[in-house]
Amino acid sequence: MAQLSVFAPASIGNFIVGFDVLGAAIKTHDRVLGDVLSISDDKPAGYSAVGEFAFRLPQDKDNLVIKTAEYFNRQLAQLRPDIEIQKLTFKLAKNLPIGSGLGSSSSSIVATLFGLNQWYQQPFSEPLLLQWSAEIEGANAGAMHYDNVAPCLLGGLQLINEESQEVCQSIPFFDDLHLAFCFPDIEITTKSARSMLPTQVSLPAAIAMQKRLASFTAACFRQDKAALVSSLVDDSIEPLRKQLIPNFEQAKRCAMEQGALAFSISGSGPTCFAICESADKAKTIAKLIHDTLKQGDHSFYWTGQIDTAGARLVEA
Ligand code: HSE
Repeated sequence: MAQLSVFAPASIGNFIVGFDVLGAAIKTHDRVLGDVLSISDDKPAGYSAVGEFAFRLPQDKDNLVIKTAEYFNRQLAQLRPDIEIQKLTFKLAKNLPIGSGLGSSSSSIVATLFGLNQWYQQPFSEPLLLQWSAEIEGANAGAMHYDNVAPCLLGGLQLINEESQEVCQSIPFFDDLHLAFCFPDIEITTKSARSMLPTQVSLPAAIAMQKRLASFTAACFRQDKAALVSSLVDDSIEPLRKQLIPNFEQAKRCAMEQGALAFSISGSGPTCFAICESADKAKTIAKLIHDTLKQGDHSFYWTGQIDTAGARLVEA
């Protein structure tokens, strides 16, 4: 039996500034934070899911692994008719909660496209896989955005401009900064968290957003921590979406009082994260925000950093 396994990491969409245009892959030593997909020619062909959050996944045509595999097969049939499409078996270890703000859907989509591309000896380029990931993610979320799929596929902190020839630019982050996270265990779909946003922003708001994103990017390249911290403000999206996260304000206050450099929502939430000056500080703050934000039985907290690697082959 032939078999391969791929890992696609969790990601933070938006990274406080850069709504829809900035995203980061996350690594942690505390748990497996990303989906692992095994593909084989084991018979009978089919799909199954294991892992802490598998029970929350649809098993039918709405399942993202099934949908994405069908999408890949259509592309294969159209663009590479010389390659014979095989009936395959997919086993997903679903390690990310859906509707969590951790790029859970991107992780499943990217794992499937990346894994199938590996299976068929890489018939398609990385930019094509990125574009397809964003299209499938867009159909799922109600609007196309690259800020989860890009870091999930490519790793690192990615600045996205799909109007440019190079859709993604990798931004250097700070090796000595650590991240503290809490998933409170409520579900917020990206679609619903996007539908609550205004369709237009005022000129002063647009200026503030572009000023902060530009300062953030320059601060990362200059490795200027003070400039980084002063750029990490979101007074456009966070005030609206925080209403969906019980005790958000208390958690933010606690984190900042404990010395967090910044605190906000990961993607469309409900996961929240803080940027911290040391691993120890991140540990203390992660526990503290979990004590404040925790809602359901599957809530959890962890610490990590930006994962410079994106989707990759792993041992089964
Ligand atoms: N940029 C997207 C949003 C990320 O905030 O709606 C979703 O994870």
